[in-house]
Amino acid sequence: MLEKIKALHEEIAAVAASTPEEVEQLRIKYLSKKGAVSALMADFRSVPAELKREVGQKINELKTFATEKINGLKETFAVAEDSTLDEIDLTRTASPMSVGTRHPLSLVRNEMLRIFASMGFTIAEGPEIEDDWHVFESLNFPPDHPARDMQDTFFISRDTVDILLRTHTSSVQTRVMEHAQPPIRIVCPGRVYRNEAISARAHCFFHQVEGLYIDKNVSFADLKQVLLGFARQMFGPETKIRLRPSYFPFTEPSAEMDISCDICGGKGCAFCKGTGWVEILGCGMVDPNVLKACGIDPEIYTGYAFGMGIERITNLKYKVKDLRLFSENDVRFLREFEAAH
Ligand code: PHE
Repeated sequence: MLEKIKALHEEIAAVAASTPEEVEQLRIKYLSKKGAVSALMADFRSVPAELKREVGQKINELKTFATEKINGLKETFAVAEDSTLDEIDLTRTASPMSVGTRHPLSLVRNEMLRIFASMGFTIAEGPEIEDDWHVFESLNFPPDHPARDMQDTFFISRDTVDILLRTHTSSVQTRVMEHAQPPIRIVCPGRVYRNEAISARAHCFFHQVEGLYIDKNVSFADLKQVLLGFARQMFGPETKIRLRPSYFPFTEPSAEMDISCDICGGKGCAFCKGTGWVEILGCGMVDPNVLKACGIDPEIYTGYAFGMGIERITNLKYKVKDLRLFSENDVRFLREFEAAH
């Protein structure tokens, strides 16, 4: 009996298979109910009592060995089958592909332009590298105005103070007025540059949307109504505005506009420094000198202009406190705006 077990052990150790069907045949031959190992079990009854223990153990060992051997053979084919190309499951969900998100400043600029377009404004753009005439001279800046100083403006060359990076997009308004007669109703989005030390609250470049409307009988009341409409569409229908007298060389009278604080709803908080109001833009009636410089008759036409920083509006709308986040392009920051699309 022990001899028989040993022979069968050696026989099984030597078997091999080249297809899954052959493995199955081996399983039937050795491990099925009518197989060789089961046949040994049947013979077990005739084994003398004193040998039963030893023989039983050997049969069990053989059974484990045969099972492992055949499972091992089965597995080699299972792996091979998995890797065959015709097993690709075309109904499986594709793994997600990561897509970019729109920059928060672009989101806010698009929203601002959409609002002004709904009020009849068209978009005008112009160059970022400008000359003194379009940025300052035509806009009634006196020759000794501090904005013309190296401290505030980036000049392109040391030798000439005539070519510079625009400090506001009012230069685009000049460019349009030079070549068109009223009615003119435009908004000018774009990047502007100022020579400021970079901090959480200031940067050497930022973005603006400026607006201009020139026609017969345009009044300050028209300006106020357009700005109120803008503020309510941008920040919600409950938003209040207030205008404070101010000064710009190119507008007279001039004003700065505050909106009721979006964060505390006007009650007063750290963001609005307890006042309930936050400043968002500058505006005024276009100075007659500007119209004259651009070839528009101030005796016939009047107009208003306004200008605001996109960063400032984005700060308020999305509670972004540090300006530097806008140009660092940290994807963790940019991804926070996914939901706003
Ligand atoms: N150009 C001004 C600025 O850059 C903003 C402004 C535009 C003010 C139009 C009044 C009228 O600060």
